[in-house]
Amino acid sequence: MLKKVKTPDLRTGMYVVLPSGWLKHPFLKNNFTIKSRRQIKKLIDSGLEDVMIDTEKGLYDFALPDAGPGSSGAEGEDTGEIRIKVPGKWEPDKLAPHALLEAIRDPGMAPTEKAGVVYQSSLTLMERLLEEPRAENIKEAKKVIKEVVDLILCEPQTAHELLKITSHDVYTYMHCVNVGVLSVLLSKSFAGGLAQEDIHELGAGFFLHDLGKVQVDSAIINKRGELTPKEMEEIRKHPQKGCEMVTEAGELTDECRTIIMQHHERIDGSGYPLWLRGGDILLPGHICAVADVYDALTSTRSYQNRLTTFQALKYMKEKLEGKFLKEVFEELVRIFAPR
Ligand SMILES: [Fe+2]
Ligand SMILES: [Fe+2]
Repeated sequence: MLKKVKTPDLRTGMYVVLPSGWLKHPFLKNNFTIKSRRQIKKLIDSGLEDVMIDTEKGLYDFALPDAGPGSSGAEGEDTGEIRIKVPGKWEPDKLAPHALLEAIRDPGMAPTEKAGVVYQSSLTLMERLLEEPRAENIKEAKKVIKEVVDLILCEPQTAHELLKITSHDVYTYMHCVNVGVLSVLLSKSFAGGLAQEDIHELGAGFFLHDLGKVQVDSAIINKRGELTPKEMEEIRKHPQKGCEMVTEAGELTDECRTIIMQHHERIDGSGYPLWLRGGDILLPGHICAVADVYDALTSTRSYQNRLTTFQALKYMKEKLEGKFLKEVFEELVRIFAPR
């Protein structure tokens, strides 16, 4: 379907259809997918106020938080939220929106925009994976996560923007992406200590750490108020269930197992499922534990109010002392320190 869009509202991933026979536009082709901000600038500079886009062939209704005046979505309401809708004709066998890999590989895209596309596409990826956690989807997700991990490690500015927009909600898939992004950033500082590990496998483990929750009754996961001992027992099965799912997919590595199994263990032995202590918990387990709790505290959860970054760090320091590896917590504080 063709839709008219103001040129400043164009986004990478949209498929533009320029008027045929129009000789003044600066492109060789009349129809193409926008791959970079430079192409959008070229279109604006050429004097076109609006162009048609084909919503069947590319992205549509895409508003970023930094969008300028008039950059609202298709419904025309600017809520300030980051929104992205993928066209209905998405490749059914693909887990990740193609805009994700396009954005990652686009060297010209501004960090803020890239972070927006990568974050929203990662959410879509995790949403689809958690809806259908089949073996082939787990495999596919791992491949895509590898690219996201590379981006976080190689483009600090984009990583910083990603961290700024990690939004919070009750949904497990948002939590998985938030914890994935933050854990990879934390891991970067401990690269020496992780020399024997494969950073991509670590990234996959971080993003998939709560995969097992899909096998726990969602009424328990989203329950308001305190959990009964029986419900807690059910929740405590998710690390083991997650490990089994990744094993069935033939994708279990030592890194994945460590992260999935140990992200709820605590140094003082108060965690689960194995009540490990201090040195029995490996560094990736410590990293995921810190990121996991930080995200839980700063998210809008059904049983608590969301804390600000400062409040969450203060809470972790004062109330959860002795639960986490000191060095990892200090790194978390450093990451969120004002620049
Ligand atoms: Fe968990
Ligand atoms: Fe978690």
